[in-house]
Amino acid sequence: MAKIMNGKKIAEEMKARLKKKLEPLEEKPSLSVILVGNNKASEIYVKMKERACNEVGIKFNLYRFPKNVQEDEVIDFIDRLNKKPDVNGIIVQLPLPGHIDEKRIFETISPLKDVDCFHPSNRWKLLIGLEDIAPCTPAAVLEILKKYGIEVGGKNIVVVGRSYLVGQPLAIMLLNRNATVTICHSKTRNLAEHTKKADIIISAVGKPDLIKGDMISKNAVIIDVGTSRVNNKITGDVDFKSVEKKASYITKVPGGVGPVTIANVLWNVVKCYEKQTG
Ligand code: GUN
Repeated sequence: MAKIMNGKKIAEEMKARLKKKLEPLEEKPSLSVILVGNNKASEIYVKMKERACNEVGIKFNLYRFPKNVQEDEVIDFIDRLNKKPDVNGIIVQLPLPGHIDEKRIFETISPLKDVDCFHPSNRWKLLIGLEDIAPCTPAAVLEILKKYGIEVGGKNIVVVGRSYLVGQPLAIMLLNRNATVTICHSKTRNLAEHTKKADIIISAVGKPDLIKGDMISKNAVIIDVGTSRVNNKITGDVDFKSVEKKASYITKVPGGVGPVTIANVLWNVVKCYEKQTG
């Protein structure tokens, strides 16, 4: 039976450390979140970010736009936040409505306030191994592996999913740590052929039961980044029942990667604040 990697516990420790660090500050760091439309999952994520900011003493501001807002209006608003000295971190919650060009949004967020590591210059830094601002979910995966003493150097690691948010930057960060990385995605012909050879499988797709027990090798490490809603319950990409019997370590959804991602959001706000205040 696999050992469960407890992301919630790691996140609580990270938040406690941050709270202590911020306590002596008279002027607290601040995070501004832009939410376009009323995507249900985004509403929940943003609420979790707000609650976490309140817990550690980060000021939180939410700016809502209707789903038919013009792209230029959002761009202008980000520009205004970029210029405000009392805004330290900016998050534009994804997904955005189809008529808004995400790439233009990524380019507009000031690299100094870029909590998600969306800006091309911050991504380029990641490519050359400078990870001063790392994307929150990939960094959470690495944090969990590190906390449980699981080395990634030299390991065969399969990342399922190639999103700009998770799969792609995670693969880069694993390469930076000398892992042998395979990225699988929706056009991959035989997923199981790849996953069976992996020491570590990280799935970030959003498809329940995508990874089953017969697709993994004995003692594989399984990290589940998927979040889907099935019958009003949050569920991951991994068929937990069949996989936990074969794996050595596994994360749960909820309570795995998600809470550590939120803790990383907080830490990234403070890193941005420190860059701006010297
Ligand atoms: N939507 C789902 N996860 C995230 C995230 O980490 N950052 C942003 N900006 N949007 C998201």
